[in-house]
Amino acid sequence: MKRILLVIGGGIAAYKTLELIRRLGERGYTTRAILTRAGAEFVTPLSVSALSGEKTFQELFDLTDEAQMGHIRLSREADLVVVAPATADLMGKLAGGLANDLASTALLATDKPILMAPAMNVRMWQSPSVRRNADILARDGVKFVGPNGGDMACGEYGPGRMAEPMEIIAAIENALAANKGALHGLTALVTAGPTQEALDPVRFIANRSSGRQGYAVAEALARHGAETLLVSGPVEIAPPQGVKLVKVTSAREMLAATEAGLPRDIAVLTAAVADWRPDVAANAKIKKSDQPENQNGARSISLVENPDILATLANHKHRPRLLVGFAAETDDVLAHAVAKRARKQCDWIVANDVSTDANGNSVMGGTRNRVHLISDAGQEDWPEMSKADVAQRLALKIAEQFA
Ligand code: C5P
Repeated sequence: MKRILLVIGGGIAAYKTLELIRRLGERGYTTRAILTRAGAEFVTPLSVSALSGEKTFQELFDLTDEAQMGHIRLSREADLVVVAPATADLMGKLAGGLANDLASTALLATDKPILMAPAMNVRMWQSPSVRRNADILARDGVKFVGPNGGDMACGEYGPGRMAEPMEIIAAIENALAANKGALHGLTALVTAGPTQEALDPVRFIANRSSGRQGYAVAEALARHGAETLLVSGPVEIAPPQGVKLVKVTSAREMLAATEAGLPRDIAVLTAAVADWRPDVAANAKIKKSDQPENQNGARSISLVENPDILATLANHKHRPRLLVGFAAETDDVLAHAVAKRARKQCDWIVANDVSTDANGNSVMGGTRNRVHLISDAGQEDWPEMSKADVAQRLALKIAEQFA
């Protein structure tokens, strides 16, 4: 669902924004509106809210509004900001970087694309200062729809009429399409977390993986537009936004869920899959007395090898076009990672040192990572950063690869 922040300026064309809100609703958009003081002379907040189904925001210094939803959040929680009618005043404020009411403040504060549908008297539109402001805004990346030519409410004739609601919707769709992420149209798969290999109904073999890095990678790929499937072992993390999540327990389940998700353009396997599993998982809890002791008093568990998901994907008939493995190592990080890349036949390896931190604790399961990216192009050493930043940088690298 796409979210529009609609800034309604003060002009007779404001009445058309009611129709616009309605048509957007029919197409599955949600619209939140900011009504300027001048806009409220032409349409009422009540009619705007009735059609949008959302509260209409009006005053910058309204403490209730600001407490519920600050102007910054308001401007960010949208995919596109639409200004209709865009008056000479609103254009001038944004071009000049001025902010003295909620509408102009939200326009300056937004990190989203802006689409303006200007409406004003033809002479105003043609005045050198409005021309200048329109040029500045276009150079700053603001998109325009209209104004159209024709008879104007003020009795004059020429360009100045606000574009019709359906034209504005077409421009909204174009603006949103242009703003799709660099990975739009691609599919991705990420594995994350540890696996648990059952010994009996209550015990298992596992490892310290938190799954944080994999969840961050899945979220970053989705944010860049890839349709992303995350196959996760047992972890305690909230599902990332915009990602399809499949939860599994064992390595064999992870392999099955991963293969079921193919074909995919991109696969990033961050999971710390257990290399081994008990050769039998007992149906009932193993008792202290169940297993014979050997001469040393030791008990043994016999282990069989788990499938290698990364190597399986590398040789799969639906091999992803870009296959990325992670290598958590405690020693000789780079040498092991280079060897692993060759052995598993993946395209890139992200290697990280999980030995110990300054206090001697294992860093596996932490929130930061210091990694090296190994590919055909050689080796890149990234500085220590948060797992979210590693994920973001990796997603950008992947986007470059597919550009
Ligand atoms: O455990 P290892 O260091 O070999 O893991 C390297 C890479 O291989 C990681 O990307 C991991 O997700 C993947 N792997 C796998 N299946 C396994 C073991 C590892 O996909 N059974």
